[in-house]
Amino acid sequence: MIILGIETSCDETGVAIYDTERHLLAHKLHSQIKLHAEFGGVVPELASRDHVRKLLPLVKEVLLEAEITLQDLDAIAYTAGPGLVGALMVGAAFAKSMGLVLKIPAIPVHHMEAHLLAPFLEPSPPQFPFLALLVSGGHTELIEASSFGEYKILGETLDDAVGEAFDKVAKILGLPYPGGPVLAKLAEKGNKNRFIFPRAMLKRGLNFSFSGLKTCALQHFKEFGNAEQTKADIAFAFQEAAVDSLVIKCRRAIKEHNFTQLVVAGGVSANTRLREQLNIMGKEAGVVVYYPRLEFCTDNGAMIAYAGARHFMAGKKTDMEIKVYPRWEM
Ligand code: KG4
Ligand code: ZN
Repeated sequence: MIILGIETSCDETGVAIYDTERHLLAHKLHSQIKLHAEFGGVVPELASRDHVRKLLPLVKEVLLEAEITLQDLDAIAYTAGPGLVGALMVGAAFAKSMGLVLKIPAIPVHHMEAHLLAPFLEPSPPQFPFLALLVSGGHTELIEASSFGEYKILGETLDDAVGEAFDKVAKILGLPYPGGPVLAKLAEKGNKNRFIFPRAMLKRGLNFSFSGLKTCALQHFKEFGNAEQTKADIAFAFQEAAVDSLVIKCRRAIKEHNFTQLVVAGGVSANTRLREQLNIMGKEAGVVVYYPRLEFCTDNGAMIAYAGARHFMAGKKTDMEIKVYPRWEM
């Protein structure tokens, strides 16, 4: 079965073709970073318009690269949510219309489920059941993934998502959008002993809180100024605290539920420090840790095509309605 995957939930147009026998055949990504940079964050209307411009050319490119034609497609998978409503509508309308013309199903995919499944695109994928840590710009969740389609949220953020906290602290430090990776780079130059930020909600439970860290970064920035070294020191202290909180809750969930595998996915799973610390914890806890390759940590079409393929193989039914779910529980 050959599935076209379409991702347009935020600021990346991602398109890919997944073959259930030959695996990933092609994938392309257009990032809108340049478009939104001067505004310091994603402007939803500009995002939607850019998806309209880029979607069709990218689809043509992946078809060429995969050496197939539209007639070879068995289904089209698209991100139906969560995300920006206008951006989601572009992908949904595109996929549904194409499905109608080609007389093949258009399968709605949950963006976070697609992130969770992204490590299955790698050569040695995890096996259900496993614990998943989903860390993106809008979500921070610990999920018990019992089998495909069977997910239970064990813990989640009570305020900001961890990626959102990276982006907000980056903004406080005057770093350019997209803040997360830039802040992580700056943290490498940070002095390890200058500032120590608090780890929230350590004692109990599996929930997270990151908004206090953002306030803490702001206070330090105001008090100690904006010299390059001070900014690097704040970036370091913030990243250490954020990473620690994630690692501590993962360790607790593993112990409480006896998991033997941990899947880490979503934009923040590209973070080097997080990977280092989770790998150390994984070794100690006897757990194998799985990540997507770096380019599939952040939003992409490959994970949508893969998630769509699994739903298609599982016989997911679709209807004709063009519907998106800007807020959608997994
Ligand atoms: O999964 P994603 O591409 O989009 C959402 O579904 O939200 O995640 C984007 C988030 C942003 O907050 C971005 O700053 C963060 O992931 N991010 C990182 C890194 N790369 C991306 N945060 C920390 N370190 C990174 N290397
Ligand atoms: Zn995402």
